[in-house]
Amino acid sequence: MTRIHNFNAGPAALPVEVIEQARAELPSLNGLGMSVMELSHRSREFQAIIDSAEAGLRRLMKIPKDYDVLFLQGGASLQFAMIPMNLRGPGKSADYVDTGSWANRALKEALLTGDVNIAWSGKAGNYTRIPKQDELKLQSDAEYVHICSNETIGGIHWKEFPKVQAPLFVDMSSDILSREVDITQFDMVYAGAQKNLGPSGLAIVILKKGLAERAPENTPIFFRYSTHIKDGSLYNTPNTWAIYLLDLVCKWLEARGGASGMEKINEKKAAVLYDVIDSSDFWHSPVEVESRSIMNVVWRLGSEELETQFISEAKKAGMVGLKGHRSVGGVRASIYNAITLESVEALAGFMKEFERKNEGKL
Ligand SMILES: Cc1ncc(COP(=O)(O)O)c(C=O)c1O
Repeated sequence: MTRIHNFNAGPAALPVEVIEQARAELPSLNGLGMSVMELSHRSREFQAIIDSAEAGLRRLMKIPKDYDVLFLQGGASLQFAMIPMNLRGPGKSADYVDTGSWANRALKEALLTGDVNIAWSGKAGNYTRIPKQDELKLQSDAEYVHICSNETIGGIHWKEFPKVQAPLFVDMSSDILSREVDITQFDMVYAGAQKNLGPSGLAIVILKKGLAERAPENTPIFFRYSTHIKDGSLYNTPNTWAIYLLDLVCKWLEARGGASGMEKINEKKAAVLYDVIDSSDFWHSPVEVESRSIMNVVWRLGSEELETQFISEAKKAGMVGLKGHRSVGGVRASIYNAITLESVEALAGFMKEFERKNEGKL
């Protein structure tokens, strides 16, 4: 089997061991004579899978008992809408920190249904840094504060999370379980699974108990957190395939030291790339050093032509997914948990060789 060096931003590379296990179990899961996709979501066997996935996440993230863990559909994007619908309350306001494309999408969704205070925006500076604590203009009576822990497009992350009075909600789609994080500083954590946890079409929601009761009575049933809490994420037919893969990914993570094990290797992987970027004027990082993401490393070359040439030659050398997001251009390497140090070193080696051959084009 040939596996490529896959730097896609999401859907992204999954651990090869997980893919192989899923392949082996596909025709007949645990001797059932059917795949997980053909199994009733109401069966004892599927209940065991969803329970195991939840237990794995709880152990890995050290989620206390006073939080519910939900497996929902609609991706992280549906959470942008469900959060204000359920948790802001009529006539109330919420603080949003606008650090990039994804935080901005969340705040646009919240603006549609009520009042929002933009506590800080990095838009004028092209979203190249995370604010300092004393730059945040927070309201004293906000119902919650919303942040995005890692901006997948801009390549910036919160190294230290802000200290706030109101409940803190975080979109962790692109860095969940990539590093050790104290979950108790948040009242809500959510993430699309398709970067660090499994395939797309599954969102993980971790919600402090009691919050769901804030939802106004006219909230549509499907969009209420309380509906999914009551039915253990089985109100309607869930993405059984994605939950099964998430369970396998959790086991893979636990066997490799969990969040702290990942953090060590992820810091190392990111340093390999940033070291090349910082080593000469051939490369340029648009991002403030303290805000640099360890999941999505973005950089520029001297011209757009050179960037196109770099991406195309990298592809020929077996490295894909390096084109920056269409809204910003440039180059981006997404180096989630499943990306090996060997893949990152191969990319760094390719960059040095490319620089040597094209130095004159600076
Ligand atoms: C940080 C972040 N939040 C939200 C989303 C949206 O996720 P989904 O496509 O699952 O709705 C993405 C997708 O890439 C993301 O990177």
